[in-house]
Amino acid sequence: MKAYFGRRYMLSASHRLHSDALSAEENQATYGKCNNPYGHGHNYVVEVLVGGNVAPETGMVLDLVAMDEVVRTRVLQRFDHTNLNQDPLFTSQVPTTENLCRAVFDLLKDELPAGQLDYVRVEETENNFFQCYAAGAESSGR
Ligand code: NI
Repeated sequence: MKAYFGRRYMLSASHRLHSDALSAEENQATYGKCNNPYGHGHNYVVEVLVGGNVAPETGMVLDLVAMDEVVRTRVLQRFDHTNLNQDPLFTSQVPTTENLCRAVFDLLKDELPAGQLDYVRVEETENNFFQCYAAGAESSGR
């Protein structure tokens, strides 16, 4: 039987929603005040869920310290207190929280034990959150 372990992290960053594929008017219509040239910030909550077998020796799915180290080095050091628009990942895609969520998922998946990363959830505000699942998990009835 699989067990799951989730952990939450805080990440503060600024961004401006602007697409080079759209005109100035279309950007304004699409993103509204989020298209403001000066940008704005969020205190993102990043939630990471891993699933796997419980190791009989440790009684754990994944060592919490190991998880923290991967998230810290791959995600927090990269994005915390930065302007997301200036990250190379967002030079060719808009730093929406959908795209941030996908970026976090991709940055973590190869650093965690194979197949363990189940989903990444990013809360942008009290009311908005975004989730990315491992390929195929969307259709598993979750
Ligand atoms: Ni925003």
